[in-house]
Amino acid sequence: MARKPFIAGNWKMHNDRRQSRALLQGLLDSVGHLDEVDVGVAPPFTALQTAGEVLYDNRILLCAQNVHYAESGAFTGEIAPSMLREIGVDHVIIGHSERRHIFGETDETINQKVRAVLDAGLGVILCVGEQLDDRKAGRTMAVVSRQVRAGLTGVGPEAAAHITVAYEPVWAIGTGLTATPEQAQEVHADIRTLLAEVLDRAAADAIRIQYGGSVKPGNAAELLAQPDIDGALVGGASLKAESFVDIVRAALPGR
Ligand code: PGA
Repeated sequence: MARKPFIAGNWKMHNDRRQSRALLQGLLDSVGHLDEVDVGVAPPFTALQTAGEVLYDNRILLCAQNVHYAESGAFTGEIAPSMLREIGVDHVIIGHSERRHIFGETDETINQKVRAVLDAGLGVILCVGEQLDDRKAGRTMAVVSRQVRAGLTGVGPEAAAHITVAYEPVWAIGTGLTATPEQAQEVHADIRTLLAEVLDRAAADAIRIQYGGSVKPGNAAELLAQPDIDGALVGGASLKAESFVDIVRAALPGR
């Protein structure tokens, strides 16, 4: 089944409002009109509103890097899904490995966030991935399947159109090490089989599974050529318009 590629840039804790505006202008000029690929950017919270204004009425999707699961309340420092929706956010990245491993987010919290975001009518990019020790011990799929099952607990197949899964082996994030296309494809195919079990076959066929972890212009095309790799979640290489645009172009069908 042909799934429209989805390339998202995770800016992490980079880019103030001025830098965000400049980077987005560069992206709009080159890939703002593309129909064949969905393109998203996830600026830090302080630049989200500015980014929303620059992207207003455009095809580039505005993504947030995190969210809280409650609608409102005494949660100092947190942001509710409806607050993100109000400023034009389309998708929220949930369960990024930095949230899991630096900030201690659990599978349970991540599931609460996934459900809250879907309930708010937003899309989810659910990140999963094993650490190097897991891979060495042959536990890759055990870890990834626990994360997928837990992340999607209580979510039904009707939500499929709003769900993206990002497979990001932790050992490949920001390290310059990438999974080989074959290693990534193997896990992506297993995730799709699992999605059919957890949701249903049609949902599994529709859900896009992005690869993430040191995706660069030089390796994007061979990763994206794999049958179950439907896009990329890009960190470092999304901070420069030129490299991000090259990765988006590598996802164009027929390339
Ligand atoms: P990277 O980050 O491309 O810099 O490895 C990917 C990510 O953390 O989503």
